[in-house]
Amino acid sequence: MKRVSLAIALCAVVAVAAQQPPAAPPAPAPEAAAPSSTPGHYAGVASCANSGCHGSTQPLNATRVLQNEYYTWLNHDRHAGAYNVLFNQLSARIAKNMRLRKHAYEEALCLDCHTTNVPASLVEGRVDVEDGIQCEVCHGPASGWRAEHTEEGWTHAQSVARGMIDLRRISARAQVCTACHVGSARKEVDHELIASGHPQTPFELDNFTEVEPPHWTPGRETHGVPAWAVGQVVAFRESLDNLARHARGEKWPEFSDMSCYNCHHDLKDSQWRQERGWPDRAGLPAWSPQRWAVLRLLVGRVSPSSRDALDPLVAQLARNVSRMNDSAAVAATAENVRRVVEPLVGKVEAARWNEGDVRALMASITDDRGVLADVHSAQQAALALQSLASVLTRRDPRLLRGALVKSIDALFDDVQKRDEYEPARFAQKLAAVKAAL
Ligand code: HEC
Ligand code: HEC
Ligand code: HEC
Ligand code: HEC
Repeated sequence: MKRVSLAIALCAVVAVAAQQPPAAPPAPAPEAAAPSSTPGHYAGVASCANSGCHGSTQPLNATRVLQNEYYTWLNHDRHAGAYNVLFNQLSARIAKNMRLRKHAYEEALCLDCHTTNVPASLVEGRVDVEDGIQCEVCHGPASGWRAEHTEEGWTHAQSVARGMIDLRRISARAQVCTACHVGSARKEVDHELIASGHPQTPFELDNFTEVEPPHWTPGRETHGVPAWAVGQVVAFRESLDNLARHARGEKWPEFSDMSCYNCHHDLKDSQWRQERGWPDRAGLPAWSPQRWAVLRLLVGRVSPSSRDALDPLVAQLARNVSRMNDSAAVAATAENVRRVVEPLVGKVEAARWNEGDVRALMASITDDRGVLADVHSAQQAALALQSLASVLTRRDPRLLRGALVKSIDALFDDVQKRDEYEPARFAQKLAAVKAAL
């Protein structure tokens, strides 16, 4: 199935690739590190880029992997150019609004997400900021396994034991991506960054993986619906950590935890909100349920008792966030919710998905009122349906030209134009998906 959600983004990839000066040939790799090299140090992208390793210009059939990973990344992957964007006008504006002392391209705040920003004491080869988000940011520092992992008989498990991140395990993969795309202790795109001009960073593991130019062999069992499902749990867990941290720190209230359009809407046509009413005191901004609304339906299938435990806790969390005045209660509730969510990672990772499960879950998403709550929740619903539908279209490619795919594609028109989102219209479009199921 064609992933339409990020179609705009894909064009951007081409545009960015076209703007960039021709790729410089990779610097010569340093000598292979001695096998006794301490794990946990960064060797630099040049050390992966030999043509006999991952730097072939064409996929090769010689090994289990494609071997042109470096070229795919360098020429097509936005992560490779992530440092360069820190030189553009938008970055300068963000830095100015945030009153940063240095240029964006010198600020740790920006470098932490836009390149490989590691202390010099952890560098063993050569890491240049210009290299952007290179292999080791996602795959882990290579000093402990780089030389060894091509040896006869060396296993993936041995590499993992020596510092490679096990991206085959979905929860580990999700953790890597969410650290930047959802935010984590050291770095996040909060309301101050957004108000200063930084783009919003929506995320869903499966769709965001599938729109990347793949430098891995396609059709893996750990991609598709399992990735979507585990990604949902991990993203919610990480957002709870972020929320608890906001509430315990100086940054409270943190508006990026709330539904943006509760505050950012016009008063010209405000009547419908007054007709609808508010769950608590009238006129308070709501916690954004974007990471819970769809996950709630998934948890209902995988572990109904967890959902029964979570519903009242999450409702309490939403009330606390919305009232804004008791930050200790926000943090404590977020931590309570997290305790129930944590064991779900393993449960969802172990779950197996058949076509019946997928159809039932799709139907429950199209019926649900909770996913309409704000445009970011609606976006998660659209991404979920797209990911789930890929199971059906893979089995029956004729569906790709049918009403189901068309009706799901239509959802993205609504969530891409965030300012124009209307719950009633989105509900109608969900009904069309249901009818096509
Ligand atoms: C928590 C991680 C994170 C931090 C911190 C961060 N960014 Fe970003 N930035 C992203 C992500 C992710 C995107 C891509 C958003 C998307 O398209 O989904 C992005 C996109 C951008 C873009 C738009 C790029 C384009 O291709 O249009 C600019 C400009 C930018 N960031 C500048 C900055 C600056 C300046 C700072 C520091 C003040 C900063 N960023 C801090 C994660 C981060
Ligand atoms: C943004 C994160 C990211 C970056 C940067 C990145 N990769 Fe990957 N890589 C992945 C993901 C995700 C997979 C798929 C893992 C899976 O599903 O098992 C992958 C898979 C691979 C595989 C296949 C592994 C296997 O088990 O079959 C190789 C080889 C690889 N990457 C090499 C590289 C090299 C070399 C670079 C740098 C030139 C690089 N990657 C940069 C995320 C990344
Ligand atoms: C170190 C932080 C970091 C990590 C880790 C990371 N990303 Fe990113 N990602 C970024 C930034 C920054 C950008 C924006 C780059 C730009 O605009 O030039 C981005 C861009 C993207 C885009 C393009 C978005 C768009 O709107 O076109 C996709 C897709 C993406 N990342 C997926 C992933 C996935 C999947 C993973 C995990 C395997 C991952 N990223 C890991 C920081 C990160
Ligand atoms: C609790 C209310 C509240 C919430 C929720 C909120 N904001 Fe804001 N936002 C504000 C206020 C107040 C300002 C400052 C307005 C001004 O200076 O005109 C602001 C400023 C901004 C600005 C810069 C001003 C402009 O007009 O460009 C942007 C962009 C923005 N917010 C985006 C968001 C996004 C995206 C979200 C959701 C992730 C969000 N806001 C959530 C209250 C809120």
